[in-house]
Amino acid sequence: LLWLAVTALLSYLAGSVPFGVVMARVFGLGDLRKVGSGNTGATNVLRTGNKGAAALTLLLDGAKGAAAVLIARALMGEDGAQVAALFAFAGHIWSVLQRFNGGKGVATFLGVMLALAWPVGLACCATWLLVAATTRYSSLAALVAAALSAIYVLFLDNGESVWLSIALTILIYIRHAANISRLKLGTEPKIGRKSVPEA
Ligand code: G3P
Repeated sequence: LLWLAVTALLSYLAGSVPFGVVMARVFGLGDLRKVGSGNTGATNVLRTGNKGAAALTLLLDGAKGAAAVLIARALMGEDGAQVAALFAFAGHIWSVLQRFNGGKGVATFLGVMLALAWPVGLACCATWLLVAATTRYSSLAALVAAALSAIYVLFLDNGESVWLSIALTILIYIRHAANISRLKLGTEPKIGRKSVPEA
C-alpha cells in the first residue's frame, strides 16, 4: 500500500507539470490565461498562432500521463498503472504548481488511455480526430471521445479500466462546463479561432 501511495504522489507530481504554460514561456507567447479560453491546454496554445508550441503541448501533456502509467505498470503491475493514470490526470487538472488549478485533461486523458490499453487509446484519438475534423470543435471532440472511452474499454480491452475511464470522463465533463454552455448557445469557437466569448 505504501508503494501505491508513492506511485500516486509521483504520478500526481508528473501530471502537475503544465506543459502549455512551459511552452508559452519557452516560445515567448505571453500569459495563456489572457489568451482565448484562458486554459493551459494545446487548444488554447494554438490560439496564440504557434502550431509547433501547440503540438508540443499536446504531445508532452499526453506523454507525462503515458510515462506515469508505463513506469508504474513496470514496477507494480496493473493496480499501479490504474493509480498512476488517475493521479497523473488529477495532477493535470488540479496542479500543485498552479494553486490546484489546471487544464481540462484531454491530452493527459489520451496519454493515459494509450498507455493503459493502446487499442482503447487509439480509438479515443481516432474519435477525437473524427469529431474535430467534422465539427471543428476541440471541446466537443474531447467530450465525445471521453464519453465513448468506457465502451471502448469494454469492447477493445478486458474491461479492467472501465471505472477509471468513467471517473476521468466525469472529470472531463466537469472541467468543460463553460465549453458545454457555449456549445449549447452556439458560441463555442472553432479550432484555431482566436477569441472565446463568455459562456
Ligand atoms: O482540451 C481542451 C479543449 O477540449 C477545450 O479547450 O481552450 O477551447 O476551452 P478550450
